[in-house]
Amino acid sequence: MSWETREIDFLVIGSGVAGLRAAIELQQAGRVLILAKSAVSEGSTEYAQGGVAVALSDDDRISFHEQDTLKVGAGLCDKEAVQILVTEGPDRIEELIKWGASFDTADGKLWFSREAAHSRDRIIHSGGDSTGAEIERALIAKARTLDNIEFVDYGFTVDLIVDDGICKGAFVLVGLDVPRLVCVKARATVLATGGAGQVFSFTTNPEVATGDGVAIAFRAGADLVDMEFVQFHPTTLCAEGVPAFLLSEAMRGEGGVLRNSDGKRFMENYHEDAELAPRDIVSQAMASEIKATGGRRLYLDLRHLPAGFVKGRFPRIYETCLGHGLRADLDLLPVHPAAHYMIGGVKSDKNGRTTLMGLFACGEVACAGVHGANRLASNSLLEGVVFGKRAGQAAQASGLAPSSAPDSLLGDFHRAMGSGSHELPTDEVIAARETVRKTMWKQVGIVRDAEGLGSADECLRALEHISGLKTPHPQLMEARNIFYVGAAICHAAQMRTESRGTHSRSDYPKQSDPKWLRHLVLSASDGLEGLFSR
Ligand code: FAD
Ligand code: SIN
Repeated sequence: MSWETREIDFLVIGSGVAGLRAAIELQQAGRVLILAKSAVSEGSTEYAQGGVAVALSDDDRISFHEQDTLKVGAGLCDKEAVQILVTEGPDRIEELIKWGASFDTADGKLWFSREAAHSRDRIIHSGGDSTGAEIERALIAKARTLDNIEFVDYGFTVDLIVDDGICKGAFVLVGLDVPRLVCVKARATVLATGGAGQVFSFTTNPEVATGDGVAIAFRAGADLVDMEFVQFHPTTLCAEGVPAFLLSEAMRGEGGVLRNSDGKRFMENYHEDAELAPRDIVSQAMASEIKATGGRRLYLDLRHLPAGFVKGRFPRIYETCLGHGLRADLDLLPVHPAAHYMIGGVKSDKNGRTTLMGLFACGEVACAGVHGANRLASNSLLEGVVFGKRAGQAAQASGLAPSSAPDSLLGDFHRAMGSGSHELPTDEVIAARETVRKTMWKQVGIVRDAEGLGSADECLRALEHISGLKTPHPQLMEARNIFYVGAAICHAAQMRTESRGTHSRSDYPKQSDPKWLRHLVLSASDGLEGLFSR
């Protein structure tokens, strides 16, 4: 395998909403390289449907948005981070509009919709249900007008370059068929690799969401936090032979209801806001309902909405359902909760600083405490633009010297990658990856208990050899990352002996304050071993 070295001022790993916004900030201070492991636009941002929560409507207040976010976060939100999100959010959205993002309007004004647990109509959207694609389009277009920004697609980051306790860039496999190793030296590195839905076998997330950033950062020496909190989205299309596909929460916001296999609504039995209860409550109620009915199906029902409404308001979802033989306005849509959003992640402060010098994080890979134990719907795209900009500002202000990573370090990595000494048979790695994903879904999913978590822990331990894998095949390196992230989630879920927000334990059904009114930090200095000790 060939290798080369590149030097750049700032390296941004990830080209979703967070990475792009960080890069646009950073280019004022130097040359920026943006890496995407697939096509530039591929990532969760591109698939975001419902919209962006922002307190811009006449009857809304920043303080209302703040209260809603804190309430849903079940006591674990960082208040300062929430205050930043809701206060800076409106400016970031105005800025997106200035850069060409187009949001849906009604009567010449932004059209605000309702989603669960919002006390106001607060969600702006684009093309009905293509909000993320429009934001991604506008940010890429903006970035492409800036001379200091360069994109590299199909550039898979394997690990970070760490020298003397400082992150000095990354080891990247570039190219599709026969990747070459590029050691990218950078003054500062911004991690914006998105989420980890693919750690679970049933997910709304695209294939690229394998949690690479969390695993990469942990291996490099950055701490993780809140890893037990994984959000399961209630309404994911779930039919035989149909790939998991999100049916936006906005569909319930517009009046869609959930029914059990007897055709009865059940959410009223679980929460006063019924289908518009916070997402954790709806998903957990659905899990109970499925259990109570011996595993029978649940459905999203939109049939009572005015003729033509569903098709007009949710064109992308309508077409996708149609492609699978379902008429979203006439048929009951079979749904099941699916892994959707990683609330925990790389521990970062309000400016994206991680515990590893030279490494910044923003977007879904980062955890600055904005979402607490459960994320309010449509707060994630907003988080991406608000904290992406802040991470970019902090990285350029950090005053880090040009990367001085010694060639010997780079040579060692290249030898390890090229030697094949850390390789395992491909089939074995792919099988291990699937075992982890299925185990995580079954034992570390919507409702957890000590027995299931213990058996997941054992299963992961038995696959520990995956952690040492070093091979120039991105897909196999993703398996290693899925293993790390699975182990981190399972470990944190075992430790938190209470139920709070998205973390639901049938053996500890109550929230336990003040004992658990705290964050669980997984220290990178304990290494992988720390994830398997109690
Ligand atoms: P992403 O947009 O996922 O981008 C990640 C980037 O990192 C990609 O460019 C990828 O190639 C790159 N990358 C990953 N690993 C590597 C690696 N090893 N090397 C190099 N590059 C790498 N949130 C809302 O607020 N509103 C919504 O309506 C909404 N709808 C959603 C619908 C769906 C179906 C999904 C899946 C999520 C939705 N979310 C929504 C959540 C939201 O879309 C994401 O949290 C957000 O877009 C994440 O942005 P990001 O920039 O952090 O990561
Ligand atoms: C959705 O459209 O339901 C997704 C919104 C989100 O994840 O915030």
